[in-house]
Amino acid sequence: MSSVPRINPSILAADFVNMQAELARIAAADFVHVDVMDNHFVPNLTFGPQMVERIQATSPVPLDVHLMIDDPDRWAPGYAELGAASVTFHLEAAREPLSLARRLRDIGARAGVAVKPATPVDALFELLDEFDQILVMTVEPGFGGQGFMPETMPKLRRLAEEARRRDAQVWLQVDGGISESTIAQAAEAGADTFVAGSAVFGNDDPDAAISALREIAAAHAHR
Ligand code: DX5
Ligand code: ZN
Repeated sequence: MSSVPRINPSILAADFVNMQAELARIAAADFVHVDVMDNHFVPNLTFGPQMVERIQATSPVPLDVHLMIDDPDRWAPGYAELGAASVTFHLEAAREPLSLARRLRDIGARAGVAVKPATPVDALFELLDEFDQILVMTVEPGFGGQGFMPETMPKLRRLAEEARRRDAQVWLQVDGGISESTIAQAAEAGADTFVAGSAVFGNDDPDAAISALREIAAAHAHR
């Protein structure tokens, strides 16, 4: 299922040793958000292609891979090749973002680019058609459970305006600190795809948390 607004739970907040059971708890999700961290681009380490391949084989919903790694030009295509529906790399880490996006699409994945809170997005305006998703980080990447940064909203708003003006089909994703109390402002600013880690897996009923988030986002949708 993938309808606007999309809710993508982050398994960073799941129990890593019970991944199969955790994946079964989020059947209402649009995508499973998989945070790959390398201890270089961010000061935290999660998992690599071998684990992501097992998640891909096990998950009932498609994968939205968020690569917080150095040298995505070298590593990102491998995640598309193992079957991830969407692969997002960081603009700050990529040498040739445009050719990397094209390679990801050639392999058959949706191509995504992410920006940290302080990274400007103006350089992406000309490239909106080259990406299927732009991820505006609403926390500093690296850890779950941080507070939402409202100062990232003007950037998201400008991206949404540009996308509308150019009639671009790109999805606008937010990630970090998304909860029932912050999702409305991100939806109003133009996000249509929402990552939530602790707000989903921290709930006794993750599927109910997904529905509640989706409902609030839909009520505040901007386009
Ligand atoms: C942070 C990750 C996020 C994280 C979000 O670097 O990219 O996906 O899991 O977690 P919450 O929703 O708890 O802020
Ligand atoms: Zn993420």
